[in-house]
Amino acid sequence: MNNEIINVKLTDDGAAVIILDQTALPNETKYITLKGKEELFEAIYTLRVRGAPAIGIFAAYALYVLAKQLENEENESFVSKIIKLSAYLDSSRPTAVNLATQLKRMTALVEKQKMNPVKQIVAAMKEEAITIYNEDVDMCKAISKHGITLIKKGDGIMTQCNAGPIATSKYGTALGPIIMGQEQGLSLKAYICETRPLLQGARLTAYELVNAGVDSTLICDNMASIAMSEGKINAVFAGCDRIARNGDVANKVGTSSLAILAKHYGIPFYIFGPSTTIDENCLSGKDIEIEERSPEEIKEMFYKKPMAPKEVKTYNPAFDVTPNELITAIITETGIHKPSEVCN
Ligand code: MRU
Repeated sequence: MNNEIINVKLTDDGAAVIILDQTALPNETKYITLKGKEELFEAIYTLRVRGAPAIGIFAAYALYVLAKQLENEENESFVSKIIKLSAYLDSSRPTAVNLATQLKRMTALVEKQKMNPVKQIVAAMKEEAITIYNEDVDMCKAISKHGITLIKKGDGIMTQCNAGPIATSKYGTALGPIIMGQEQGLSLKAYICETRPLLQGARLTAYELVNAGVDSTLICDNMASIAMSEGKINAVFAGCDRIARNGDVANKVGTSSLAILAKHYGIPFYIFGPSTTIDENCLSGKDIEIEERSPEEIKEMFYKKPMAPKEVKTYNPAFDVTPNELITAIITETGIHKPSEVCN
């Protein structure tokens, strides 16, 4: 699979995190090294690192890197600073649950070991962060294998946003079966929604699928209906940022529109994600906080000059919730589930 790229990793001495800067893609493959708390926060907020599993892994590495800088503190001060740093990193983006989950996992470890020598706690944090990474690799691999059972030769698959290898540890979730299918000679045809306003489809999914040799066609988001109506699409594959207990799913804004269209045209609509994206504390999609981002992303970004009057108001939600009844199945590492049963 298209996995030569490691998008999030530690430096050899563990003093910093190296990421593939996703804001520079597809024009430049640029790696950046980060160790200050503000630059680590900024990398998540500006989507240099993005995709629910990838930001969870990044946050775990980031907290370890910051902990290493506090190795000479007394235990009590060390623990209280780690709790504050974790809350700070967690406040960078609200919707993807993996960020909060992996930070909680790291701070739970620190609390459990709080009587141990600080250097020993820091070493355990490194191991935990690497375990989080490795577990995600295994989950994505399993998701891809389950997903491929849903595809047949020559299928047209519509995608939203980017849920490929760079949004995870490796392999990807929704793009995993498409890339694996390509390797197995399934000759799939990907229809990639560009995904306004930050163009993760055009910039990232197109980059990953073209590199994997998949027959890839880019469409503007508002072309999904005509592509479906012409019989080009056999299934919609999307990732997820938070799955509620009842199987409602938050993913990149526009996902719910595709689900509604898919239902109209009788096309199966699948969500792919690791179980780390399930939030048992959310009873339904109504409990999911939707990130709202800056007007500049709609009015100026990616244009040579501003494309809307300065005075116009904007509404820029970064995610939306697809209700469970519009989802044919949710695919996790444990298998292919009815949305209402994904939490069982
Ligand atoms: O704002 P983004 O680019 O972080 O949004 C990402 C998505 O919506 C992905 O589909 C989701 O995180 C799953 S990534 C495997």
